[in-house]
Amino acid sequence: MLLLPSANRVYTSATPELAAAELAVVSAAVLGGAVSEAAHSRRGGVPYLEFTAERLSDEATAFLSQLSAIYALFEMDGDLLKPVELHRIDRYDDDLITIQKYPGKTNEQFTKLLFNVTLMSSAFAPELTSRKLAVLDPLCGRGTTLNQALMYGCDAAGLDADQRDFEAYSAFIKTWLKRKRIKHHADYDGPVRREGKVIGRRLQLSLAATKDEQKAGMSQRLDVVCADTTRAAEFFRPDAFDLIVTDAPYGVQHGSRTTARLARRPQDLLTAAVPVWAGLLRPGGAVGIAWNTLVAPREEAAAILAGAGLEPLDSGPYRQFRHRVDQAIVRDVLVARKPGPAAA
Ligand SMILES: C[S@@+](CC[C@H](N)C(=O)[O-])C[C@H]1O[C@@H](n2cnc3c(N)ncnc32)[C@H](O)[C@@H]1O
Repeated sequence: MLLLPSANRVYTSATPELAAAELAVVSAAVLGGAVSEAAHSRRGGVPYLEFTAERLSDEATAFLSQLSAIYALFEMDGDLLKPVELHRIDRYDDDLITIQKYPGKTNEQFTKLLFNVTLMSSAFAPELTSRKLAVLDPLCGRGTTLNQALMYGCDAAGLDADQRDFEAYSAFIKTWLKRKRIKHHADYDGPVRREGKVIGRRLQLSLAATKDEQKAGMSQRLDVVCADTTRAAEFFRPDAFDLIVTDAPYGVQHGSRTTARLARRPQDLLTAAVPVWAGLLRPGGAVGIAWNTLVAPREEAAAILAGAGLEPLDSGPYRQFRHRVDQAIVRDVLVARKPGPAAA
């Protein structure tokens, strides 16, 4: 596997280890453990991840095609590399994910990794291409996870308390859809009131990658709310989501994020929010959280998830996602499953 050249140098230095851990999760989840002996190498001066697999079915290749760090895949014949055709399921141009630049944006390649690992840990991994999955990012910022969900053909929902983020994402997505001439329809765009009081703002859109999909009723829904995440249950139904994927605040300031509410300790926020999020997840679904281990150790984050009745996945490759982002951030990933009939 030839690794994607990434613009972010810091992230790139951790890419081979993260790619190996992601591959191991995918292999265990949907390839029956077919992949083994993954190791980094350099060929012709560029980084690869080499692994052994008896034979890759078309279905297996399809899963590998979605890996966050894959650039190209080759079958090795001695020292020669024979290209394997990749089939990415991306439904839109990749500038949906890359165009926005702002302080505090989660690296998009990492977002895809977090998304994939969460999906693979749910009972719904094999359904990615056969059913429209519903995904929530309850701390969505300017929508990196939401855009990844749309890219994969999912319904995407998000919540963020920061009004500037909400407005920036709302303006971005509306402009992007128009500029790309993608069929879409705004179902709602305005304040949300309960008992006469404004409790948030909301943008609800439906969009379809093609006219035929729109006609066949296969539109995707995008639903973004500007409100505190601990109020998520006021906006979304219980068991509404297959996956919850989020990058929690790092406890360091990005640019002008200075309001007292957003400066709450990340672990306090998670303690208050995770039980609410767990209620929105379908049994068999999974939550994937990225956070800064310098503000909350892994055990603390795992205990918060377990305390909400979720089952943290904490062995093997799940312990290999920790990586340094900068001086103040050592990021890790924690995934937990919601037990229930669908997961059996
Ligand atoms: C690490 S950022 C997520 C960035 C996002 N993935 C992106 O790429 O734009 C964490 C987000 O949590 C939001 N946040 C912090 N506390 C919140 C709360 N109590 N309710 C809702 N959102 C909150 C912040 O506004 C910030 O956008």
